[in-house]
Amino acid sequence: MNTIDIKNNPIGFFDSGVGGLSVLKETLNVLPYENFIYFGDSENAPYGIKSAAEIKRLTFNAVDFLLKYNVKALVVACNTATSVCIEDVRKAYKNIPIIGIEPAVKPAVELHHEGSIIIMATPMALSEGKFMKLLSKFSATSEIHPVPCPELVEFVESGIFSGPDLESYLKEKLEPYKNKKISCIVLGCTHFPFIKDTLSKLVMSDTYIIDGSLGTANHLKHKLIENNLLSLKDSYGWVKVHNSKNNSQIIDLSYKLLGITNDRIYRRDII
Ligand code: DGL
Repeated sequence: MNTIDIKNNPIGFFDSGVGGLSVLKETLNVLPYENFIYFGDSENAPYGIKSAAEIKRLTFNAVDFLLKYNVKALVVACNTATSVCIEDVRKAYKNIPIIGIEPAVKPAVELHHEGSIIIMATPMALSEGKFMKLLSKFSATSEIHPVPCPELVEFVESGIFSGPDLESYLKEKLEPYKNKKISCIVLGCTHFPFIKDTLSKLVMSDTYIIDGSLGTANHLKHKLIENNLLSLKDSYGWVKVHNSKNNSQIIDLSYKLLGITNDRIYRRDII
């Protein structure tokens, strides 16, 4: 395949479910002329309470699925899979750029002036060595509280983004910090940006809520430029969503989360 053909190949995105769509959504603004193939493994979600070996096995399955579409770059849009096995995936597939995502601790530390930082993520992402390293780098200067929220993934997978059950779950998680000044909450799981509006109603108005989506989208762009892989097109690309659940509800939820309503801009099913 010549270089021009490769540049026109799609970019693969993967997550344990619909969460990585929060990263893809941001990426559509940063790279509007690219084509994207998304694979959500909702049948096996949540990953965050599984063993590292099982997460690695599922991640390799998902990556192999995307590679069949000749993707020119791959985004592991899942903090949990990134923390468990991104280096193994990079070692196995050296010929394409592979981008991961990790909790945006550094931007949170840079943003915050006074008060502490909460990191909401899956239990696995918060217990892996990669996160421990990140934490030890910043915990001397900032008070950082990791808060595992495994059930939040299931709210999002079920299409629940607001309502009393979600609010009481979040309140319970925040209860231990109610007398502390919280300067920033880091959404360290790609499912969580979809509940940001509900969360923001429960915290002080000067608490920042941040995630790693834009940083990941910009990093992907940078890698495409560095590897001379940017699309040469100047018309909008397409997005195709696959899901291991393979039913219309999850596919419809996926396009709804992406905010793709205008078929003139993104054609959905051309593959
Ligand atoms: N969306 C994933 C993450 O960013 C994992 C959610 C899960 O399946 O537990 O960590």
